[in-house]
Amino acid sequence: MVKIAAFDVRQDEIPHFNKYEHLYQLSIDRFEAPLRLDNMDLVRDCQGISVLGQSEINEDILVALVAKGIRQVNTRTVGTNHIDLAAAGKWGIRVTNASYPPDGVAEFTVMLLLLVLRKYKQAMYRANVNDYSLEGLEGRELKECTVGIIGTGAIGTAVIKLLKGFGCQVFAYVRDGRLKPELEGYAEARDLDFIYRTCDIISLHIPVTETSRHFIDKKAINAMKEGVILINSSRGGLMDVHALMEGIESSKIGGLAMDVFENEAEIYHRDRRLEIISNREMAYLRQFPNVVMTQHMAFYTARDIEYMVRTGLESFLSPLVFSTYGLNGS
Ligand code: COI
Repeated sequence: MVKIAAFDVRQDEIPHFNKYEHLYQLSIDRFEAPLRLDNMDLVRDCQGISVLGQSEINEDILVALVAKGIRQVNTRTVGTNHIDLAAAGKWGIRVTNASYPPDGVAEFTVMLLLLVLRKYKQAMYRANVNDYSLEGLEGRELKECTVGIIGTGAIGTAVIKLLKGFGCQVFAYVRDGRLKPELEGYAEARDLDFIYRTCDIISLHIPVTETSRHFIDKKAINAMKEGVILINSSRGGLMDVHALMEGIESSKIGGLAMDVFENEAEIYHRDRRLEIISNREMAYLRQFPNVVMTQHMAFYTARDIEYMVRTGLESFLSPLVFSTYGLNGS
């Protein structure tokens, strides 16, 4: 029987762990804590580990895992930016990620976009104190906007398809310039210059890598339309937070919604009310009336949670076992 140590385990994942542990005949030790060097002892007699994005799997951790006989690291997320993949390759550790339908994240992205477009953050704050005034809350209609989608993977594609229903014009940035046939009639492929110059709203749907880190920097923002709305439900590291702060201060950026934030791992997905949070940029950006920040929850639907646990655990079975959305192993 394959034994796994699972870290970052949330309460809502437990029923799925119970179900698939039994179904797939695995033995799983579950821990709420992220995996760190100082709790490495929790990994005992295991062949593999499973984590979420809170565990930073760097080379030191990988070396310690190798010493414990671990041969596979699974992340129950799609993104793998918290794992040093090159070091994993070097130390012969197989890395697998989860796979889940893009609809939950895509719908959340459209919600963020509408929230900013209709200034709903302010409207909600006002209503909470019985202020039902309208001044300053005038919004815009999505139908009248041009939207630029950066990246046409599963989530970018799903967002583009949802936007079709709103009647807005959609342009997509695809690295090789070729729109996939599935998106014909939904969007037109354009280069970044065009998207920056033309689009009222820009939404990011690319992974963060060494080359895409701070994809949205000062230069990119300067090239954008006055009052551009930026949406990020992908990864915080795609945006240079100082460039964002300057963009908001100068009103170059007219609205911003982020479900993600650089260095969020120690902060999001826990109750931090009584703690001193040291992320000044986050606190500063959050207070702007036209900035909406959510706690990395675009993925958080009942369906996606089950997929994350299920496809994560399936990756410990024979590589021939595939779930509906595929098994991403390397
Ligand atoms: C992902 O699956 O990549 C996510 O963003 C989900 C989150 C739990 C890290």
